[in-house]
Parts: sequence; structure tokens; C-alpha cells
Amino acid sequence: MKYIKDQEYLEGKVVLLRLDLNVPIKNQVITDETRINKILPVINFLIKKKSKILIISHVGRPKGKINYDLSLKPICENLEKKISQNIKLIKENVYKIKKEDLFKNSKDQIIFLENIRFYKEEEKNDTNFSKNLAELGDIFVNDAFSCSHRAHASVTKITEFLPSFAGLQLETEINALKKVTTEIKKPVTCIIGGAKISTKIGLIKNLIPKFDNIIIVGAMANNILNYKGNPIGQSFKEENCKSVIDDIFETAKKNSCLINYPEDVVVGKSMDDKEGIIKELSEVSSDDLILDIGPKTIKKIRDIIERSETILWNGPAGYFENPNFANGCYEIAKKIIEKKEKNQIYSIAGGGDTIAVLNQMNVIENFNFVSTAGGAFLEYLEGKDLPGIKALKH
Ligand code: 3PG
Repeated sequence: MKYIKDQEYLEGKVVLLRLDLNVPIKNQVITDETRINKILPVINFLIKKKSKILIISHVGRPKGKINYDLSLKPICENLEKKISQNIKLIKENVYKIKKEDLFKNSKDQIIFLENIRFYKEEEKNDTNFSKNLAELGDIFVNDAFSCSHRAHASVTKITEFLPSFAGLQLETEINALKKVTTEIKKPVTCIIGGAKISTKIGLIKNLIPKFDNIIIVGAMANNILNYKGNPIGQSFKEENCKSVIDDIFETAKKNSCLINYPEDVVVGKSMDDKEGIIKELSEVSSDDLILDIGPKTIKKIRDIIERSETILWNGPAGYFENPNFANGCYEIAKKIIEKKEKNQIYSIAGGGDTIAVLNQMNVIENFNFVSTAGGAFLEYLEGKDLPGIKALKH
């Protein structure tokens, strides 16, 4: 793989820069800017190199149709403010744009193309479309790790038509993930939470042979509690996952990996309950909702973190959106940070909800690495070859 940071002669070159600016937007307001902040290094690097930057990104899933509710305009404006530089957003159809017209005005250094998913060819990884895009630039840079699990035209196919490089954020992301895949410092622990166990089975099974401990928390742990014969009341539960859980325990046994799950819980009668009640597993009643892990479980998790040298955290331990059920997440984060501050652990967190918890606590910077990638993060950790990364290697 070639890295943009190693390229010296970029002056005047038009760099097609694929970013993932797929940020959450509510009523035209960006509610989480993390992804924009993470691409500032590559933008500043290219500005310093005096390149011309043509930014390609998607936002949302417009499914090949123009939908100005999913315009990149608010993102473009946000970035303009962050770097104090004017940025042009061009709405013109990419088939009509001519390379020589793009940076005609010598003041223009950064131009945004409109949402690339307005074109159906993007998700089809269309050859002709990719070729057309490629004709607009001199080199291609992928700094969108979080899109690299998509075999899409502006991520994958385009690399066949231009010299292609890994961006700064993509490189950082891969280097961090290597620390929990190929360059692990043991003992290594993974905390997995969230709603659905079936969506994380690939990840759990791939990590079991390499990891010492897997801690399953969040709503997905309800399935295990239930599988072990405990009452779970009205708690969220996925149907037909017995074989998935059988599989997890069998694989763990073969590989001497310890699977941990809650030993006590915090329940409420509704998601917006004003107060949580700590209960032993056997005490959960038929109208209870399990919404967080209890103090015994927290202590156990803290002890495991204390003994670990590497930790990977994906998915919340409880319904953290209600502060009465956020304690499990907070205590996990606090313990990891405490160890990290003493330089005793390498910590990676990822996934939208986990980032939201860390943002709520204002501790994103206190982890060694926080991945903004959702699907790509999981697929990479499942051991899959991501098409966008593979494409940079030829
Ligand atoms: C993400 O948010 O994970 C990336 O932007 C990819 O988006 P997608 O799941 O719509 O392909």
C-alpha cells in the first residue's frame, strides 16, 4: 500500500480525496462532528503541499437519486469554518464537469462534489462512472476507512484508473486495529455490547481464538442470561439465537477464551424510568426491563480490565441514553482510562453508540484510539478483507 504522507511532489496536483463525511444531521444541524474533525489532518497536509483538493463523500443513503435533504452543503460549510477557507460545492453532474474548469479560479483550493450516492453507479461500482470521476484528478486518496467495506465506485473501482494512496486517517485506523488483530499485547479483552448478538457473531467468533476474555453486555447479554435459564422479564431479546450462543460457548471452550456475561443487573419498568433497581439475576420479575449491568458485574469487569494489557470496546453496557442506566458504561470507561493514564493498557473503542457514550463523558481523547467506523470496523475485526483497502494494494 502506498501512503500519501510519503509523497513529496503534490504541488498543483488535483487530488481526488474520498472521505466519509456521513455525519448525523437533524434539521440541517450536524449533531456529531467527530468524522469531520478526524479528516482535518489530511486536509491540512494537502493544503500545505499546495495540492488542489476535490472532495468526494456520501451522506445517508439516497439510493441513486438526487435528494437535497442529503446534500453535503451543511458539511461543506462546517468544514469551511473549521479551516477558515472558502470551499466550493459543485452541484453539476459529474459527467458534465471538465477537469480544466474545476480549479480555474486560482483562489479555489478545495472543491466538494455533491453527495456521490446521488448517482446509482456509485453503489454499483460502475466502471464507466469511476473512469469519469478519475478523469477529474491526478491522484486518488482514500481517507475513508469507514467506507472501505463498500465495493463502491469512489472507494474501490476508481483505484484502477489513478495512482492511489492511503490517507492519514486510514493509515492511523489500520495501525490501531493491528494492535488488536496481528500485534496484540496480551492479556487481551474485548467488551461487546449493543442490541443484537446475531450482528456481532462474526466478530465474537473471530476474536475468541486470539482473545483471553470476551465480556458480553448490553441488550445482547439478555439472550445469554435467558439461554442460561434466568428470567429476563420484558427485556429486549432476539429470537432464534440459541445456535449462535451454542457456537460462541463451544468455540470459546476449544480456545480457552473466557466468556463473561452479567452476574447482576439494573432494571426499570420502562426505558424512561426515573430510577433503576439493582437485582440479582433470579429476582428479575415478569414486568422488568433489564437496562444496565449491576455492581457485582461492574466489579468483575473492572478486575478483568485491571489484568488486561489490551482492550477493545464495542457497544454499550446499558441503555445509556437514560442517565439512570448509564452507570455500567461510565464505570467501564473510567477503569479503562485509569489504566491508560498509567500507560498500562492499549485501548480501542468503536461503534456509534460507544462513541456517543464517550462523547457524553467528554473522554474521547482519553482512549488510545477511537474508531469512527461502524460496519468497516466490525468487518475488519471479523478478519474480512475490505474491498477499499484491498484496492489500494494493487
Ligand atoms: C458508515 O456510516 O458506516 C459509512 O459512512 C458507510 O455508510 P453505509 O453503511 O450507508 O454504507
